[in-house]
Amino acid sequence: MFPYFSKKNMGTEISIHNLTKSYPNGAKALKGIDLEIKKGKFFTLLGPNGAGKSTLIKIVTTLSQKDSGEFLIGGINPESESAKIQNYIGIASQDNELDPSGKVEDLLVFQGRLFGLSKAEAFSRAQELISLFHLSNEKDKKTSALSGGNKRKLHCALALVHHPKVLFLDEPTVGMDPLARANFWEVITQLNKTQNATVLLTTQYLDEADKYANEMALIIEGQLHYSGTIAGFKEFVNLSASMSLDDSYLHYIKSISKQNTTNDEKR
Ligand SMILES: Nc1ncnc2c1ncn2[C@@H]1O[C@H](COP(=O)(O)OP(=O)(O)OP(=O)(O)O)[C@@H](O)[C@H]1O
Ligand SMILES: [Mg+2]
Repeated sequence: MFPYFSKKNMGTEISIHNLTKSYPNGAKALKGIDLEIKKGKFFTLLGPNGAGKSTLIKIVTTLSQKDSGEFLIGGINPESESAKIQNYIGIASQDNELDPSGKVEDLLVFQGRLFGLSKAEAFSRAQELISLFHLSNEKDKKTSALSGGNKRKLHCALALVHHPKVLFLDEPTVGMDPLARANFWEVITQLNKTQNATVLLTTQYLDEADKYANEMALIIEGQLHYSGTIAGFKEFVNLSASMSLDDSYLHYIKSISKQNTTNDEKR
């Protein structure tokens, strides 16, 4: 059933092969993406707005359907083993909805109960996450009363309730203030290091990705342009390893859009 993956090495946590997706309006969001992410990596998916990052995350976490391709997470086929995959992964998607009348602490406890924790365990896990994400002052607030940054913290906390082995975080730090962002990266880095959790996140804060992530992929208009280490990307772009990821990324994106303009003019 998975002819491509039968040849793959052990130690791969997320495998994606030739993933394609078009939306009914004709937008070709993914044009055949291949990605292989080893267990325990802190991996960041980069690309301009509309590149296809959220589409990819939604498909592999079964929030959206692919057109074609194959993918496995921790050896689980998410499309056919839905109970298994829900326990294995945590997701904070870009357009997560929160129950507006739910309160922060109650929602965290409820999430724990959904994942099979006892009342006491769910309460204790909720307290841990409230403390980890500095949400103590918000714990009795309805989500409709939370600021944008605090909503994102809650999304991330909810994704972590059941100690997932793989975390998918789509622009988790949008709207967080600088201190909250620093805390967020610290929490996720610790989780990655101490529990060997694999992290796949998207971000537009390239300085932070440069500092904390070990590997990256770059997607532009539904196509994979690079996948590997961040230092390797700087070499790929032909800039020195001392250049920032921000500069390397901009250099590459500008060269690609210049190429596209020249090709359009020739047509
Ligand atoms: N529900 C949808 N219906 C139609 N087109 C969509 C839908 N969702 C995404 N698209 C289109 O698919 C393409 C990829 O969008 P996607 O949201 O995956 O990009 P992204 O890389 O996550 O962008 P951003 O950085 O802005 O979050 C875009 O052209 C977008 O307009
Ligand atoms: Mg997105």
